Amino acid sequence: MGIQISPSLLASDFANLASEAARIGNADWLHVDVMDNHFVPNLTLGLPVVESLHRATQTPLDLHLMIEDPDRWAPAYVEAGAGSVTFHVEAATAPVRLARDLRAQGARAGMALRPATPVEPYEDLLPELDMLLVMTVEPGFGGQGFLDLCLPKIRRARRLLDAHGLDLWLQVDGGISEATIERCAEAGADTFVAGSAVFGADDPAAAIEGLRAAAAATWDATSREA
Ligand code: DX5
Ligand code: ZN
Repeated sequence: MGIQISPSLLASDFANLASEAARIGNADWLHVDVMDNHFVPNLTLGLPVVESLHRATQTPLDLHLMIEDPDRWAPAYVEAGAGSVTFHVEAATAPVRLARDLRAQGARAGMALRPATPVEPYEDLLPELDMLLVMTVEPGFGGQGFLDLCLPKIRRARRLLDAHGLDLWLQVDGGISEATIERCAEAGADTFVAGSAVFGADDPAAAIEGLRAAAAATWDATSREA
């Protein structure tokens, strides 16, 4: 699939979501952060907004659920129109069943790891997934500083995927900008969420192309097939 950019709507103007989505028509996905004030100390949006967004944009929706009990709630986001649904493994009771349910509904299944959650315990689960999200900030807020301590985990995750011949997408989210994207791409990430670096730019579409070019150049330089 190559390098993909998924701008996070969290950094956009919530009073004008449809027109904000229209500014990033060159993105591969639109990243939608659902927060429930329990799993993370912030509250954003839920199913009705996702349903409306799905009607308002052609860009596929990349749902990032920062919520308790995703086992119960995640499937409804597929019904609401999400093309990809990512749950946090720290919150899921039965991640294998949940990933299978999401795939059976026709969506891509993603699993997210907070910065302190290691990837190794989930090695055997990886074939059940379409995407692994390695958070590069503590989830909950946009505009935080990138955590360099997450880089070794991205590298280890890439090695596991390669060792098992898996074609999962490896997504990073949090503090991704032109200043940090190359480090992530070098470590093996191929799917990049960026909130403030895209919606905070004067020209979000140009910001997306800048990020894409920086990541692609790094993949080429490290002789990976992006
Ligand atoms: C944070 C969210 C991110 C956030 C990223 O918990 O999951 O998607 O919007 O924002 P930036 O790119 O500004 O760090
Ligand atoms: Zn996110």
